[in-house]
Amino acid sequence: MEEKALIIGNDTVQRYLNVEDVIQCVEDTWRQYGEGKIIMPPKITTDMSSKGIDGWFNSMPCYIEFTNTAGIKVVGGYGENKKLGLPFIKANILLTDPKTGILLALISGDWISDMRTGAQPAIMAKYLASKTEIVTIIGAGLQGYTSLLCMSKRLEIKEVRVCDLSSDARQSFISKFAGAPFKLVDCPDNEEACKDSDIIITVTTANADLVKDAWIKKGALVMTMGSFRETEYDVIRNADMLAVDHPEQALHRGNFKELAEKGELSFEAFGGVMPEILAGRQKGRKNATDRICAEIVGMGCLDVAIASLLYNRIIKSGEKVTAVDLTK
Ligand SMILES: NC(=O)c1ccc[n+]([C@@H]2O[C@H](COP(=O)([O-])OP(=O)(O)OC[C@H]3O[C@@H](n4cnc5c(N)ncnc54)[C@H](O)[C@@H]3O)[C@@H](O)[C@H]2O)c1
Repeated sequence: MEEKALIIGNDTVQRYLNVEDVIQCVEDTWRQYGEGKIIMPPKITTDMSSKGIDGWFNSMPCYIEFTNTAGIKVVGGYGENKKLGLPFIKANILLTDPKTGILLALISGDWISDMRTGAQPAIMAKYLASKTEIVTIIGAGLQGYTSLLCMSKRLEIKEVRVCDLSSDARQSFISKFAGAPFKLVDCPDNEEACKDSDIIITVTTANADLVKDAWIKKGALVMTMGSFRETEYDVIRNADMLAVDHPEQALHRGNFKELAEKGELSFEAFGGVMPEILAGRQKGRKNATDRICAEIVGMGCLDVAIASLLYNRIIKSGEKVTAVDLTK
């Protein structure tokens, strides 16, 4: 029996998928996960830094009932990439037949991963923000860019404050949104940027107190997306609600990890879990003045669901993309 696997590059991915497809897929997949239709163990990290490689990668497997596919995203952050002109984050996706294990496709995960990362705060804000007029983005890198791109397609935004250690990064970020229907403000000072902000996103490579409790107004939604701590502890301790995409993963990485290790946070701490909210089992925001502190860690089922949509579109189109018979 032939075992034909498609090899799908990043350009082909973008010919078959657009940003709207990804945003919708993130919302639908979170809901399906909340309805128990996806099997997804927590991701595991391979940290290579002790062996002199400035990098780590996560293995993120899942099975999705509604697409009838199983797959895995392998995604990492590589500190040397920028010098080579490559993005910090590199991703690949394997899609398999769940009944036989036969490889269906090997897909460049770069565009899919970056875009689904940006779609997450757009959907979370849709359900958890009380206002969306003033948005602060701390971390003007690639994931910051896709976050604003996706948020601008779902939310009414009037002003975006752009923060980053690097003024080049801030300027380059702002230039990408030339002509946008909202004001962009170059903001080197995090405190100034956070004051009176409705939504604050942190999406950096830092491990630092980028946001302080005293800077957050009532009703604000803070979403941390970087892989390490990005707020001071009191932002978490004093929040009216803690929200996550995936509780188990959130206890082991990102902004909530250190307080979880100190025994201050456990599974029960999360009053808002996105898949549960979308499946109608949790309420989400309870009142307009609550300060919500959220961590979005990223779930592999989003990438595999988007990859499955892509695969089905390519098969339906009849286009002869590169394929390898793995029995040969
Ligand atoms: N949650 C998710 O689903 C998800 C998915 C992919 C990547 N990530 C994470 O998002 C983060 C950003 O990734 P990226 O691809 O945008 O990287 P990037 O290198 O393109 O951008 C990171 C930006 O953060 C800035 N920065 C670093 N330290 C800072 C500080 N102390 N204050 C202000 N700005 C600072 C850098 O100058 C840079 O512009 C990483 O931690 C990555 O692991 C999260």
